[in-house]
Amino acid sequence: MVCRDAPERCRLKREIDVLGLGAVAVDDILFVESYPAADAKMRVLRRERHCGGLAATALVAAARLGGRCAYAGALGEDELSKFVLDCLDHRGVDVSYAKRVRGRRPVSSCIVVGQDGRTRNIFFDLNGVVGAAARWPAATVVRSCRVLLVDNIGVPGMIRAARIARRHGIPVVADFESDQHPQFGELLELVDHLIVSRDFAAKRSGVSDPAIAVQKLWATDREAVVVTAGASGCWYRGEGAAAARRQPAFQVAAVDTTGCGDVFHGAYAFGLARGLPLDERIRLASATAALKATRPGGQAGIPSLAAVKRFLQQAINAE
Ligand SMILES: Nc1ncnc2c1ncn2[C@@H]1O[C@H](COP(=O)(O)OP(=O)(O)OP(=O)(O)O)[C@@H](O)[C@H]1O
Ligand SMILES: [Mg+2]
Repeated sequence: MVCRDAPERCRLKREIDVLGLGAVAVDDILFVESYPAADAKMRVLRRERHCGGLAATALVAAARLGGRCAYAGALGEDELSKFVLDCLDHRGVDVSYAKRVRGRRPVSSCIVVGQDGRTRNIFFDLNGVVGAAARWPAATVVRSCRVLLVDNIGVPGMIRAARIARRHGIPVVADFESDQHPQFGELLELVDHLIVSRDFAAKRSGVSDPAIAVQKLWATDREAVVVTAGASGCWYRGEGAAAARRQPAFQVAAVDTTGCGDVFHGAYAFGLARGLPLDERIRLASATAALKATRPGGQAGIPSLAAVKRFLQQAINAE
């Protein structure tokens, strides 16, 4: 991508590999014998609290692979905000650019898992959630990253950051779960690398076939469009190609696929920051997500770069 600003500005030292502004979440998981009918009293067998959310998990994945990552969305002073920031910090993501505003919060979910029927009911709370703030972080912070990661939490703030990034030749990588914001179309136009799940792609494009959805989501100034489809792998198209190609998912014994999509984004963004070509980025992202699926926990199960490289080498040897 070409820098659209004066050359001296484009030579700014890129100190952050991947900068994220969007969804961070606290998931409280309650394990019960079976999901109850209305008005019941139910004993909780075990409870766990996890840090999740699209931006948070993608940044942790990129950091685990060795990237310098930073989170610069808006959070508050409450316990949940502190929990998320501590988790990110502990997992190697720089949180010093996060905006702190009283009353703001991460997404918080209560997930009730019924052990007998393996049911999973999710109650999510978006009150106080901002994601990307309207005029935050400072333009210099955005300009100092190699890759900007955006989602649909805080659309006006995402648009501002994406504009700054594009003006300075910084690629914008996106994941979306909703297109309901009135300015969503404006944000979509600013995305260079659009990576979405098969469900979102189908909703947005009107077609369920991922290969056709890739074509429908393509736009002339995009650098890549990727549609992910869980254990079926992903379909992708890059600049200069006419049709979508498929990367099958790596065959693994999956135990927990929570966050695989977010991990895929983080690994892709890391690969992009390190200058890998599209096919290699897709393989790296697919391998990182597949390895994550073999371990429990959304963020705790993310593999290191050494483990991903070993896994890819084994896959080549087995071909
Ligand atoms: N069971 C699996 N085995 C191997 N790889 C998987 C598996 N599930 C997911 N993946 C890898 O992760 C990628 C992204 O997964 P998926 O399409 O499920 O994302 P998603 O729908 O955005 O999920 P989420 O956002 O809930 O994590 C897939 O394209 C694939 O490469
Ligand atoms: Mg997803």
